[in-house]
Amino acid sequence: MRIAELLKARVVPVEFKSFPDGESYLRFLGDVEGDRVCIVQTACPPQDTNLLRALLMADTAVELGAEEVVLVVPYLAYARQDKRFLEGETVSLKTVLKLFRATAVKKLITVDAHNPKVLEEAGIEAQNLSAIPLLAEHLRKRGLRGALSLSLGKKALDMAVKGGEVLGGGHACLITRRDLLTGRVVVEGALEARARDVVIFDDIISTGGTMVEAVKAVVKQGARRVLAACVHPLLIRDAMEMILRSGAEQIVGTDTVPSPVSFVSVAPLIADALAQSG
Ligand code: R5P
Repeated sequence: MRIAELLKARVVPVEFKSFPDGESYLRFLGDVEGDRVCIVQTACPPQDTNLLRALLMADTAVELGAEEVVLVVPYLAYARQDKRFLEGETVSLKTVLKLFRATAVKKLITVDAHNPKVLEEAGIEAQNLSAIPLLAEHLRKRGLRGALSLSLGKKALDMAVKGGEVLGGGHACLITRRDLLTGRVVVEGALEARARDVVIFDDIISTGGTMVEAVKAVVKQGARRVLAACVHPLLIRDAMEMILRSGAEQIVGTDTVPSPVSFVSVAPLIADALAQSG
């Protein structure tokens, strides 16, 4: 709704229902024939239902004669299962992208996909937006100017770089390793964090295990204040309490996933991308 307001675009409501057996029912309550249609459906829990809803809406809009359909999935579920880590596993992201491709959508837009590289091989025009500057801006306005921006793992260093550009306190990364069978996370790496304010950026906080270990490591290295910032705050079970108990002053997330910490809206980011794509 917020995206439509920013773009001054017409909204076509879609009725959602669940049948008693759990199947989804969807119905467009307006005409889309000949229109350029943007469907916004995040894939937060329940991921499977929300992904299916996105697919049903995208396919139906094409069938109802939309001139072109852009699908916006702010949180792209299954993005972490982007390869076969253990023999016999599904490469779930690849399958999800194949399904999007089958709906004939013109373009897929998402926010901070876990591994944006995989999107390049999706066989569908895909745009990955980053909400890290928005998160950093939110924190800068709340007194974190000059804080050290931290990412978890070298692959995610880009997040720390983006955060650092806004907060102005430089960037660094910690190394994280997860045991594939137990899920336990180990965090390593020395930082110049003594008496500094530190913001730890991550794409997702799910169970909170990774962030808890990261916060503990930064606190141990003498940081003055530690804040946890993530784009997709899934915050499963007691993740939030655990992170705060481990020494983080605050958790800040975006509204790609509704949560008690979704203080930053990605609507302006998505509206801009849609406006620019014509
Ligand atoms: C991992 O590669 C991701 O970037 C996140 O760090 C991870 O998914 C967080 O999961 P959890 O909160 O369950 O540790």
